[in-house]
Amino acid sequence: MLYVQPVEEGLYASVVLPSLVIGTVGGGTHLPRQNELLAMIGCAGPGKASRLAEIIAGFSLALDLSTLAAITGGQFAAAHERLGRSRPVHWFTRHDLTPEFFRPSARQALGEHAEVVQVLFLEDRHSESSIITELMARKVEKLIGFIPARLWCRGPGGAARTLDVMVKVKPLDQEVLLMATRLATMCGPRLATSYSRYRQQTGIAGSHLRELEVYRQTDPRFVRHVPVVHQLFRDDAREAYVLVLERLDGLELMDSADDPSGWRPEHLEAAVRGIAEVHAIWYGREAELRAQPWLGYVPGASTMAEMRELWEDLAVHAAEEFPEWFSQADLAVHRRLIEEIPDWWARIERMPRTLIHNDFNPRNLAFRREQGGPCVVAYDWELATLHLPQHDLAELLGYVLTPAAGADDVARWVALHRECLARASGREVPEAEFNDGFRFALYDLAVNRIALSIAAHTFRHYAFMERLTRTLHHLIRLTSPA
Ligand SMILES: Nc1ncnc2c1ncn2[C@@H]1O[C@H](COP(=O)(O)OP(=O)(O)OP(=O)(O)O)[C@@H](O)[C@H]1O
Ligand SMILES: [Mg+2]
Repeated sequence: MLYVQPVEEGLYASVVLPSLVIGTVGGGTHLPRQNELLAMIGCAGPGKASRLAEIIAGFSLALDLSTLAAITGGQFAAAHERLGRSRPVHWFTRHDLTPEFFRPSARQALGEHAEVVQVLFLEDRHSESSIITELMARKVEKLIGFIPARLWCRGPGGAARTLDVMVKVKPLDQEVLLMATRLATMCGPRLATSYSRYRQQTGIAGSHLRELEVYRQTDPRFVRHVPVVHQLFRDDAREAYVLVLERLDGLELMDSADDPSGWRPEHLEAAVRGIAEVHAIWYGREAELRAQPWLGYVPGASTMAEMRELWEDLAVHAAEEFPEWFSQADLAVHRRLIEEIPDWWARIERMPRTLIHNDFNPRNLAFRREQGGPCVVAYDWELATLHLPQHDLAELLGYVLTPAAGADDVARWVALHRECLARASGREVPEAEFNDGFRFALYDLAVNRIALSIAAHTFRHYAFMERLTRTLHHLIRLTSPA
C-alpha cells in the first residue's frame, strides 16, 4: 500500500507490503544463475532476507512514485493515448491498398479518366535498407514500411498501361522516437538519460508529417530532383501517412553508401548542382520558411548549447565503443567543438539558411541518366530542416570522398556549390562566409548527426560508418584554421 502525506519539506511517501514471502537460502537460491543474481545485489546466503525485502520494497516504492508522478503530470494518460493503443485506431493496412485507393496515382500519371484495374504487390527487396522499417516491423502491428507495386491501369481511350510505384507507409514520429530511445538505452545508462531528455530536439519530431508536406512542393527546381510523386495520403485519425512514389529501380548508384567507388566526379557534380537548385528555393526566405507549420523543430545556438550533455555522451560512447577508428584524439576534437558550440553556432545563426535535405548522402540518392549527363534524385525528406545549405554538401562529401581527399579538391566542391546556389537563387553568396559556413556544417555533423549514427551503429552495423567517420574527421582537420 502506498502512503503519501504532506510534510514541511514537501511530500513523504512510503510503501507497506503486509506480506512478502522471500528467502535467500534453500529453495532454488543455490542454482547457479539465481545465486549469481542474488550475489550481485548482495543478498546471497543466510541473514540476507531483510536486505532483499528492503530492495523489493524500495523498487515498489520507486515504481509507484514514478507512476504517480506520470499520472499527476499527465504523461501517463498521454503516453497511453499515443502509444498504448487502448484507443481503438482503425489502422491502415495492406487491405486499404485497393485499386480505388490508387486512383489518384493513375490520374496523376495517365490523365483525368484513368482507372486502376488491378494492384500487383511485388516482393519487397527494399525495406532491408531502411533502419526504421527494420526496427519498427517487429514492434508495431500496423502497416509500416515499403511496398513496391505494379498498377495495371486503363488510360485515356481505354488503353492498358502499367505504373510501377513504391508505397511508403510512415510510422508516427513518436513511434520512431520510442525505437530510437530503445537503441540509446542499449548504449548504456548515460546515453539513455541524456537521449531521453533531449529526444524531442533531434529532428525526428514531426517527421511523419514533414516528409509528406515537403513532397507537396511544386517548384520545378524541387520536382526535377525528387521521385515523381503520384499521391500523398494523410489520415490523422487512422495515423496513416502514405506516399506513393515513382519506383526508382534501375537508377544509377542507388543504395551505394557502403561502396561509393562507383561515384565519379560527374555524379558528385550532378549532386552538388542539383541540391544547390533545391537550396535556392528557400534561400533568403527564412522567415517564410519558419512560418510553415510542417517545419517543426529547428536547431539553433541555444538548444545546441543546452544539449551539450547529449553531445558529450555520444562522443564518449563512440570513443569507448569504437576506439579503432574513433580515437582519444578524435574525442578531444569533439570535446573542443562541443565546448565552442556557443561561438560557432551563433555564427551559423547569422548566416543565410534555407530548407535542406539533412540526410543528403548515397543512402538517399540516385541518378537519372539524361542526355547532358546524370541528374540527381533525392528521396527520404523526413529530416528536412532549416539549416546552412553547406550542411548537405558536408554530409555528401563525408560519405563520398575518402580520408585521403586533398584540400584543393574539397575547396573546388565548395566553390561549385556556392556558384550554383548564387546562380539558381539570383543572390550574392559571399565566398569567405560560405567557406566558414562549410566548416561549421562539418562541426555540426560531427557532434550531432554522425555521433547519433555511431550510437545506432553499436547495434545495427553500417559498413560505411568507419569510412564516413574517418573522412569527416579528416575534412575537419583539412578546413580548420591552423
Ligand atoms: N521510390 C523508391 N523506389 C525504389 N526504392 C526506394 C524508393 N524509396 C525508397 N526506396 C528504397 O528503400 C530504402 C529506404 O527508403 P527511405 O530512405 O525513404 O526510408 P527511411 O525509412 O526513411 O530510411 P532510413 O531511415 O533508413 O534512411 C531506400 O534506401 C531505397 O533502397
Ligand atoms: Mg533513407
